[in-house]
Amino acid sequence: MKICCIGAGYVGGPTMAMIAKQCPEIAVHVVDLNPQRIAAWNSDTLPIYEPGLDEVVREARGRNLTFSTNVDEAIAEADIIFIAVNTPTKHFGIGAGRAANLEFIEKCARQIAKVSEGHKIVVEKSTLPVRTAEAIKRILSSADNGATFDVLSNPEFLAEGTAIDDLLDPDRVLIGGESPKAVQTLAEVYAQWVPREKILSTNLWSSELSKLTANAFLAQRVSSINAISALCEATEADVDEVSKAIGTDSRIGPKFLKASVGFGGSCFQKDILNLVYLCEHFGLREVADYWEQVVIMNDYQKRRFAERICRTMFNTVSDKKIAILGFAFKKDTNDTRESAAIYVCRDLLRERARLVIYDPKVEKETIVSELLSALSDLSGTISDLDRELVESNVTVVDNAYDAAIHSHAIALLTEWDEFRTLDFERIYQTMQKPAFIYDGRNILDRQALRKIGFEIFAIGKSN
Ligand code: NAD
Ligand code: UDX
Repeated sequence: MKICCIGAGYVGGPTMAMIAKQCPEIAVHVVDLNPQRIAAWNSDTLPIYEPGLDEVVREARGRNLTFSTNVDEAIAEADIIFIAVNTPTKHFGIGAGRAANLEFIEKCARQIAKVSEGHKIVVEKSTLPVRTAEAIKRILSSADNGATFDVLSNPEFLAEGTAIDDLLDPDRVLIGGESPKAVQTLAEVYAQWVPREKILSTNLWSSELSKLTANAFLAQRVSSINAISALCEATEADVDEVSKAIGTDSRIGPKFLKASVGFGGSCFQKDILNLVYLCEHFGLREVADYWEQVVIMNDYQKRRFAERICRTMFNTVSDKKIAILGFAFKKDTNDTRESAAIYVCRDLLRERARLVIYDPKVEKETIVSELLSALSDLSGTISDLDRELVESNVTVVDNAYDAAIHSHAIALLTEWDEFRTLDFERIYQTMQKPAFIYDGRNILDRQALRKIGFEIFAIGKSN
């Protein structure tokens, strides 16, 4: 059997590497339009940082795992074609700011129709609005070379930072489709390492919708506890104590109740906005408003964090140096898409703070480009003033101690493990006084830091 995957990103790369590792008899070919990304997948420095990924790729690459830009060839040879391209929020035209941009999906479907012969199973791996398979089927049926297709939905539930464990031992694999034979063929691939009872099959539309729904529910939990964190700060309740107290109720459960500076990542906001757009499209105004509130609450949480920094630093951060610890949207990834850090930094820059940023895995170029695009207007244009602001007020350094030297405050925005064990005595000595710490992840020992002399503010804790 031959598998092809179009899209060598955070999903296509790790997912296909895992299939190749677990199924040595299947030839897996991952293709992408981006030659730099493919070159990185073929090198010792993979394009994404993910614990355990290097080992998996090393085992399979050159044996039955190939990365290339030969999209047509890979499609033509494959029995199963996964589509794992990006489906970002549309930023132009109808549905701008909400709907998913399906341009890349449609281009893949057209290319598959053009180069395929015989029978192929086409698998939606990307997260898509419910009923996208209908459009894909229409496009595929226009193939004029006699090719036939089955379309399946097989959404991916991995989370970044734990992708390898999630792929190795998933809670479930979901396959939606109309043809039992095609569903069976794909299920056989996963059954090489996933217990049969964890492989669920549904109709196409349930599968597509389950992915958006899962992300909406997960994000809703984070927004719910973050909403409570604001109330905690006003009432001397402690949000971590509240999380623990409610999380021990087996009906609620303990996961995804960690209050934070706000959720980020390429999925939560995009998928909820897409759900909101779909609900509006089907005339379900109340349902759309209900889900949109999850994103509104998240924006509030990020804004609130930056405002609290300004308020508690005597209402001005202008020309003050603030050390930013962590820029990725969560630990153990180099991904910065929609990271809360972007928006906190943007708001602090607008207050004319000087930022010294350190993240263990994020490149300087990525940080600068994220900040420039956060400061740009809707059309993507950045003013000369904002460009100068980033140039003059943002420095990126390669360790936390250098970030903290002479700073007025530290804002911890990503929960990297190394931040838990920093020598805060040493850091305190090098900082301006009073020395402030804003813990956006509630990972630091507040009592110990207070003892050293810091003024510490954390999420959902009144001081
Ligand atoms: P990504 O941006 O990291 O990767 C997508 C890749 O597709 C890019 O490298 C791009 O060059 C390539 N591409 C786009 N159009 C192409 C074409 N026509 N031919 C060949 N290559 C093309 O995106 P991602 O994070 O891997 O996400 C992919 C999909 O999976 C999205 O729909 C996303 O919502 C979903 N998803 C993502 C995650 C996650 O953790 N990132 C988890 C579950 C689901
Ligand atoms: C998410 C889904 O979890 C995954 O199933 C889906 O396939 C892709 O989207 P991901 O975005 O990679 O995964 O990471 P996740 O662990 O869900 O975290 C998302 C954001 O929520 C991060 O910014 C994280 O810091 C934040 N978060 C998560 C919290 O603030 N509190 C929590 O309790 C959990």
